[in-house]
Amino acid sequence: MKTLYMVFHPNLEHSKVNKIWYEQVAESSAVTTVRDIGSEYPDFNYNIEKEHKLLLDHDRIIFQFPFYWYNMPWQLKKYFDEIFSFNFAYGPEGDKLKNKEFQVISSVGGAVDSYTPGGYQNFTASEFYRPLQQTAFLSRMKYLPPYFMYSAVAADEIEIKQYGEKIISLIEDIDRADSRSVLKRILKRAKDLK
Ligand SMILES: Cc1cc2nc3c(=O)[nH]c(=O)nc-3n(C[C@H](O)[C@H](O)[C@H](O)COP(=O)(O)O)c2cc1C
Repeated sequence: MKTLYMVFHPNLEHSKVNKIWYEQVAESSAVTTVRDIGSEYPDFNYNIEKEHKLLLDHDRIIFQFPFYWYNMPWQLKKYFDEIFSFNFAYGPEGDKLKNKEFQVISSVGGAVDSYTPGGYQNFTASEFYRPLQQTAFLSRMKYLPPYFMYSAVAADEIEIKQYGEKIISLIEDIDRADSRSVLKRILKRAKDLK
């Protein structure tokens, strides 16, 4: 399993949360390729050919970013607009991402209990990310459950690092989203119990 881990932040140097996670993931051996997109592309003018090659070369694609105005930051939206293109991600010949995994990791400023129906934010964070889920679906990718850290604006360094460690163990659990292997494990356990 080759994992491409990409961080989309308008200014990672001034970030509290995403910078720490980026450094933790980069220092770990959990992923094959880790990238701070803002330092590779200071103007976010993407090299489409290079990005396509990177996507083709990996099996799991992880997008890490802060939650902005109930959405992804524009740098990530621009990435999808330009890189998930016709006959690459969708369209009659657009099967290049088929069966690859798609994972969202995001820091959310507000508290978890505000992200409830009728609450201050009215919807859950997962609901705000439906467009990403559908992007993965249309691209015939496997959408893994998104991972959020709520109350990110109030978190201290220790807490942020604990989340970073959880992110690394999440990535390392490569069988987690594969229902067939989960089923196989359950069947094996049932057989062993007999
Ligand atoms: C422009 C902007 C918009 C934001 N919008 C939201 C929002 O809609 N909901 C929310 O919970 N937090 C929001 N926040 C808070 C960010 O999610 C939070 O600052 C970020 O996750 C912290 O990550 P960082 O330290 O890596 O920048 C916003 C922050 C900024 C700067």
